[in-house]
Amino acid sequence: MDDKTHKGRITKQGIRIYDEADFAGMAKAGELAAQILDSMVDLVKPGTTTEALDAAITKMVNDAGSTSATIGYKGYQHASCISVNHVVCHGIPGPKLLKDGDILNIDVTVIVDGWFGDTSRMYVAGKPNRKAERLIQVTHDALFEGIMAVKPGNTFGDIGHAIQKYVEGHRMSVVRDFCGHGLGRVFHAPPNVLHYGRPGTGSILEEGMFFTIEPMVNLGRPETKVLADDWTAVTRDKSLSAQFEHSIGVTADGCQIFTLSPNGKFHPTY
Ligand code: MF3
Ligand code: CO
Ligand code: CO
Repeated sequence: MDDKTHKGRITKQGIRIYDEADFAGMAKAGELAAQILDSMVDLVKPGTTTEALDAAITKMVNDAGSTSATIGYKGYQHASCISVNHVVCHGIPGPKLLKDGDILNIDVTVIVDGWFGDTSRMYVAGKPNRKAERLIQVTHDALFEGIMAVKPGNTFGDIGHAIQKYVEGHRMSVVRDFCGHGLGRVFHAPPNVLHYGRPGTGSILEEGMFFTIEPMVNLGRPETKVLADDWTAVTRDKSLSAQFEHSIGVTADGCQIFTLSPNGKFHPTY
């Protein structure tokens, strides 16, 4: 069954409403994605390469009998995006050696029984400096500020506002050029989930909506540019950037996080 023939309702804004069985499908896909990210904790270290990390991810996806959503997506050829230091997102795994103090986001999307699990976290090769550690903490906590704003009756603007207020309150900036997205039996669906905004604006959240929240936060200015490889997005001012991503579903009184770490490893510094 593909998304077009899927049972159920779509809102006026084009957002699909899923049922209880669909939550179970997303939980399975999300758990595998999270399990893969858990396994990366011990592999990220100075002297390794991002293509070695990606190879380990490809193997885990295959061993689980799952499919990578990113291999073949718009010509992308890897099972992960790995974004180091001033790379904001969509970093392509490659042969460059990680060095002590590098910070990196690893973003994995798997397909299990047709359901998409999309999640990313920050990692540190060796020991981070204090600024990098603070950036990672603020980005992590900003994601959860957004998640805490998720419940029926609130709006997508409430989510964006919560994230933006938290980040700017810490004198960092929210990237505007990339956003979260609806997902389910497709990788990217309506709505665009902005990580900035005004309270009360945007579509109203309803029980059964599935989407990602994936704020990118820069130590410097928010502007980005995409390199000549057509994928790698970097900060224009070369400042450090961080990102965390969860796939979630709206429940009657809040949300279910599909991509929580099965081993309590979501955060790199505790
Ligand atoms: N996982 C990314 C997201 O959060 C999308 C990566 S698409 C790729 O939406 F082709 F760059 F892998
Ligand atoms: Co995503
Ligand atoms: Co992702």
